[in-house]
Amino acid sequence: MNTELLKQEFYKLIESKVYGEYKIKAYSHSIQVSTICMMLARKRGLDLEACEIMGLYHDISKYTSRVSKLHGTYSAQILEELLKQYPIALEKEILHAICVHSNKSTIDDDYSECLKDADTYASFLQEPQQVLSKEREERVRRIENEI
Ligand SMILES: [Fe+2]
Repeated sequence: MNTELLKQEFYKLIESKVYGEYKIKAYSHSIQVSTICMMLARKRGLDLEACEIMGLYHDISKYTSRVSKLHGTYSAQILEELLKQYPIALEKEILHAICVHSNKSTIDDDYSECLKDADTYASFLQEPQQVLSKEREERVRRIENEI
């Protein structure tokens, strides 16, 4: 139930604070990452709803404030505030995952790895011709073997 309300809050935030082409990007990337997080959650035995919300909110501050620096930390703060009203399972894990998701070169706990992998793969699908760093290339290969 709270997962549904958190999804509605996400749409409200984007609708009220994000405009033009940036809105399309916000929706497409967030929903893609959320979906891939859920696919990986099924494979890895992680909580589906926690992974869905984690993927949806992972870049929220980047879209609402248009600032990329420290957007993991700020996105986690936005979600943390909403979780006070709409608590769900594994909050600590998903907030941590959102905080550290930009650091793709370090291997972290299961939820953080799920988000880093999903984010990497969604970005790759957006632009399949791009040259990937070694760590991103490895993540893409691993996900393709897995799903
Ligand atoms: Fe991000």
